[in-house]
Amino acid sequence: MQWVEDVDAVRRLVAETRAQQHTLGLVPTMGALHRGHVALLHALRPEVDRLVLSIFVNPTQFGPREDFAQYPRALASDRAWAEAAHVDAVFCPATSVMYPIPPSTFVQVEGIDQVLEGAVRPTHFRGVATVVSKLLNLWTPDVIALGQKDAQQVVVVRRMLQELLWPTRLVVVPTVREPDGLALSSRNVYLSPAERQAAVVLHRSLDAALQAVRRGERDGARVAAELAAAIQAEPLAQLDYAVVVDAATLAPVTRLAGRVLVAVAARFGTTRLLDNCCLAVDEDDVRTVLA
Ligand code: PAF
Repeated sequence: MQWVEDVDAVRRLVAETRAQQHTLGLVPTMGALHRGHVALLHALRPEVDRLVLSIFVNPTQFGPREDFAQYPRALASDRAWAEAAHVDAVFCPATSVMYPIPPSTFVQVEGIDQVLEGAVRPTHFRGVATVVSKLLNLWTPDVIALGQKDAQQVVVVRRMLQELLWPTRLVVVPTVREPDGLALSSRNVYLSPAERQAAVVLHRSLDAALQAVRRGERDGARVAAELAAAIQAEPLAQLDYAVVVDAATLAPVTRLAGRVLVAVAARFGTTRLLDNCCLAVDEDDVRTVLA
């Protein structure tokens, strides 16, 4: 497994890969890898000849009062996870490689970047779209993988790929959960034992919403209210949002039909966690699908 830190080494590797007519897959991450990231690697491994994992804690997607400095870094265990997943190369650039000068060029997917997570973190998706664009420019991957857990990120990156005419395919990988249903997240390490127990309410609220839709509920506001009530009943949870939105436009839906995203965000102490499920709904059938 190669460890790559600079742009010249990336360009050499990409040229070699293309000269051999090999395909290339990229899994972009911020490190502190867990089984959720490994699922992304496993999803792409059989699809491509060369599998690249990028590890970069991207400063531009953190707001001024967010956890950039504290964000978990775990390069030794990341390397072990990468070896075990048969990654061919790990790209682990310094900030000065990805941002050689203070950035004034950004990629912004306007509108859908300002709702849900964007309402609380207005520059977050601009940072994500910018760094993913840089990674695409460098690696020109045939395919990238992102997790369903960050469904809005999937929607934003998909729109960016489409609008900027990137030929790269996007694979969405189901959320990996703890046995009690909590979605895996690098931020789960911040939770106290009591908050960790309380955080399972996110998954339970989504499950309750799914059951309501399966029983025939099609009113978006009522499903959202049920989600919110379930989370507010947990004393350690502070609700940020509980919404039912169109899975492509992220606009609220009044009547559930087609592909809808049911998404929740709440704080447990100082830790903000997200969860969601995506549903394909018609009058008498409901299926869980990927964003
Ligand atoms: O999902 C993440 O870990 C990040 O947002 C990503 C896609 C690696 C961009 O920094």
